[in-house]
Amino acid sequence: MSWPGQPVTVVAPATSANLGPGFDSLGLALSLHDTVQARVAGSGADVRVTGVGAGQRWRPERHLVIRAMRAGFEAVGGQPPGIAIECRNHIPQGFGLGSSAAAIVSGLLAARALAAAREGAADPADVLPDADVLRLACEIEGHPDNVAACQAGGLTIAFDTAAGLGVARLTPLATLAPVLCVPAAPVATKTAREALPDQVPHADAAANSARAALLITALTTRPDLLLPGTEDFLHQRYRAASMPRTATLLATLRAAGIPAVVSGAGPSVLALTVGGLAPGAAAVALLAARASSPWRVLPLRVDADGARLVSA
Ligand SMILES: Nc1ncnc2c1ncn2[C@@H]1O[C@H](COP(=O)(O)OP(=O)(O)OP(=O)(O)O)[C@@H](O)[C@H]1O
Ligand SMILES: [Mg+2]
Repeated sequence: MSWPGQPVTVVAPATSANLGPGFDSLGLALSLHDTVQARVAGSGADVRVTGVGAGQRWRPERHLVIRAMRAGFEAVGGQPPGIAIECRNHIPQGFGLGSSAAAIVSGLLAARALAAAREGAADPADVLPDADVLRLACEIEGHPDNVAACQAGGLTIAFDTAAGLGVARLTPLATLAPVLCVPAAPVATKTAREALPDQVPHADAAANSARAALLITALTTRPDLLLPGTEDFLHQRYRAASMPRTATLLATLRAAGIPAVVSGAGPSVLALTVGGLAPGAAAVALLAARASSPWRVLPLRVDADGARLVSA
């Protein structure tokens, strides 16, 4: 058994968590990806980055992909002599688009694939099952919603049980056409989390559970229910003051009948438009262009596959 000389390549999707009332539970994988090519090297860790984050200086062992790879190798029985990675990043970091989840899941899948090649395993899941990848990813990330959607693709519901973390994967409407609106400046997830109260009124909790249930129906079979289904009572209003431009765009889009939500902890906005139904992606772009601050508008698709090994 020797470490492979060939690299492995993983692509991982951006993810939007919460989707309004699905706080800390729902996630949607999007057609915007980071790519990691990883190989076993002679010693230490070497990191090269192009695209998003290329200008940042990292101590290689602190880099999130390397940290995830280290955790992955640990779980399968040991570290290689060294690791070298090349990251080609498209997912904005710190904008509520799950860049940290993509980095973590990529690192774990890359480590698993290299370990599988070393052992001659036909299927990388034979050396580390998908459920263990998810558990490790969740430990590093600190919450399950983005990593679940990043790993499984499509629409996911992550939930805790006494037996551990569960994930239900659903297939969203084939016509779902997510449109991302990304502002110029990021907001730290920590800042957004600190804005949340410890307790919420029971009436809000009850209203939120109705909307979360409605949202699943809307996203899978009833696009006409997307506007009421995306109304949240638990987090967006509390975070509005820390991201006023996000709150303004959200209110403008929703007033125009567009089912828009804060993506993850913000500050990006996700509009869940549906092909063939008005208002569509063009209406989102028009309203975003009229805002007082600039927004980058990205019409995307749902990534149905989730993070995966590719051949180059
Ligand atoms: N591709 C990457 N390579 C290395 N580090 C990354 C990468 N992507 C994200 N990170 C790390 O994660 C941080 C961003 O994580 P954070 O959870 O705050 O935002 P996010 O994941 O982009 O959005 P959200 O979690 O709200 O959906 C970056 O500042 C960086 O430290
Ligand atoms: Mg994150």
